[in-house]
Amino acid sequence: MSIVKVVVLLLCTLVNSSVVVAALDRTANYEGSSDLVNLRYHLGPVLASPVRLYIIWYGRWNPTHQSTIRDFLYSVSSAANYPSVADWWRTVTIYADQSGSNVTGSVALSGEFHDWGYSHGNYLSRLDMQSVIKTAMNSYTRPLPLDVRGGLYLVLTSGDVRVQDFCRAVCGFHYFTFPHVVGATVPYAWVGYSGAQCPGLCAYPFAWPGYSGMPPPSGDGIMKPPNGDAGVDGMISVIAHELAEVSTNPLVNAWYAGDDPTSPSEVADLCIGVYGSGAGGGYVGAVNKDKWGDGFNLNGVNGRKFLVQWVWSPVKNRCYGPNALD
Ligand SMILES: *[C@@H]1O[C@H](CO)[C@@H](O)[C@H](O)[C@H]1NC(C)=O
Repeated sequence: MSIVKVVVLLLCTLVNSSVVVAALDRTANYEGSSDLVNLRYHLGPVLASPVRLYIIWYGRWNPTHQSTIRDFLYSVSSAANYPSVADWWRTVTIYADQSGSNVTGSVALSGEFHDWGYSHGNYLSRLDMQSVIKTAMNSYTRPLPLDVRGGLYLVLTSGDVRVQDFCRAVCGFHYFTFPHVVGATVPYAWVGYSGAQCPGLCAYPFAWPGYSGMPPPSGDGIMKPPNGDAGVDGMISVIAHELAEVSTNPLVNAWYAGDDPTSPSEVADLCIGVYGSGAGGGYVGAVNKDKWGDGFNLNGVNGRKFLVQWVWSPVKNRCYGPNALD
């Protein structure tokens, strides 16, 4: 659910290189330690109906960044060259609920709302997200529908918006709305553009984490972002992370590990920092490089390339993505 804490853990291992060596020694691929993971099903529903996704662009957005994000979302349910974003989503559709319904393979971008005027200011608490969603539904011009059957709301905040816990504890989160605030319970997720505020934390591995206490590596130690902007390319992986988790745990009572439902480890939390085979200890794993040297592991629509973290596969009992070498 919160994506930062594991990154910090990973980077701590970077600081103490002996830990890295030990970790790499122990398991050739950190993708594999099912002993440490007790992902369990807690009887709630998954998002089994076709998802209609509604974006709320909060603040002032760069149109180039918006089209990168739209293309990523279009890619979830569209064919592209293997390994594609849709191939990656297939691991998420393995999860089912007690009615025998799997997470849907159909995610359609169905509406967008532009909150140019920062309707709730430039600092948002977690709870404010619900009011931002309500504002988009109440707008006089082009309101978003309250879509209780398949609606999933994605609030994306621009780089000048501060959000509670953003850049300290989280890069994104998901939850569900309360009927007395929004009119019904619908799942939603928030992800912030981190390019200005904390790229080292939320756009890793495209930016160097200054707080690691280590100097940035020389040469090509920092991965180049496939869509030209560390902030937005980092955001793509966080959006993917939240989509996978909200789909498998929309009411926070379906798929998660750990005993505490207030800080569950969900299907993507278990795989933070893992983008390819052999990942672990700060190494992102085997990923591809395009002809400009940009790192990516998935193909999308319009010839796009994206770098997206893996998710936990309940079949393989390890983190998995379609670019796996084994
Ligand atoms: C649906 O869920 C079941 C149970 O988890 C799984 O075995 C099956 O592979 C899933 N189907 C798809 C298409 O992923």
